[in-house]
Amino acid sequence: MGIYIWGTGCGASELLEQGMELERITAFVDSFPGGTEFLGKPVLLPQQLTAADCDLLIITARHADAIGQTCRELGIPERKCLFLKNNSFLTDRNSECSAAEEILGKELLQRLLPRQHIVPTPAQLAAGILPEQELTNDYVRLATLELLCRKLAAVPGAAAELGVYRGFFARCINLLLPERTLYLFDSFAGFGEMAGASESFQAAHANTTVQKVLDIMPYPDRITVKPGFFPASLDGLEERFCLVSLDVDFYETTLEGLRYFWPRLEKGGYLLLHDWGNPKLPGVSEALKQYEKETGASLPAVPLCDVSGTLVLSK
Ligand SMILES: C[S@@+](CC[C@H](N)C(=O)[O-])C[C@H]1O[C@@H](n2cnc3c(N)ncnc32)[C@H](O)[C@@H]1O
Repeated sequence: MGIYIWGTGCGASELLEQGMELERITAFVDSFPGGTEFLGKPVLLPQQLTAADCDLLIITARHADAIGQTCRELGIPERKCLFLKNNSFLTDRNSECSAAEEILGKELLQRLLPRQHIVPTPAQLAAGILPEQELTNDYVRLATLELLCRKLAAVPGAAAELGVYRGFFARCINLLLPERTLYLFDSFAGFGEMAGASESFQAAHANTTVQKVLDIMPYPDRITVKPGFFPASLDGLEERFCLVSLDVDFYETTLEGLRYFWPRLEKGGYLLLHDWGNPKLPGVSEALKQYEKETGASLPAVPLCDVSGTLVLSK
């Protein structure tokens, strides 16, 4: 049985700490080896690896794209390659790797696989719940949402999005917080007259319906739609929140959203202010400044390096 480990650095050390037995390892592989032996095992150059000898190749190094390419050139099939550092790739790089479970067993494999990144399961991709293309568009935004949702386990309250459009981000919230009520606030008819949206921007955002949004929700029974112009659409709603996505692009509604949601956000909760760092939509950051001025508070916040410059406010 040929079990090869790509990498002789920290990743290899983690692998052994997590329960991979050194005695089972045939040899290590490294493009820049520090010597001919590592922990008493031979270290090969990639070109010395032969597909016939290799039953399983566990890749502990980070450069998964380049290593994957080398494996293809060496003729090592995907079913024999297990990538432990997968986070530059948005689908599951290991979906074809049947050898890993056969050779390592289910229990060890689960312990080894990477956890802290958003990779939809093949079933989710097939159901169109998190299309790969959308993940690729703004990985930082979605991976942050995933991480924050995990941190909310002990925080009570509902989730809400003000500014839903076609429900793309709402769908992610619904997927990640399936137990929570999710309030969706939108006119479903664009921005209204006050906002200052151009004709085309307005027309594009009017091109949605409540039904289209509901149709893509993974847990539609958890959704409460609040159609109409905010804040009138609140209609006296009294609720507490663990997570709020505020994404309405313009000054007035952003300010109204902060006035309503910030006092109702639970301790430990998050408010995601989309477009705060977007130079094309300066009203968003101006609204936050105004809210801080009128409340005398400086809200604790961390800016993200996502596509539109989200600001994460935390309580
Ligand atoms: C940028 S889109 C939201 C995109 C969505 N959050 C996403 O990431 O997929 C902004 C939405 O805010 C809505 N909106 C803006 N001002 C509003 C108001 N005063 N009341 C209700 N909806 C409003 C618009 O109709 C539009 O659909």
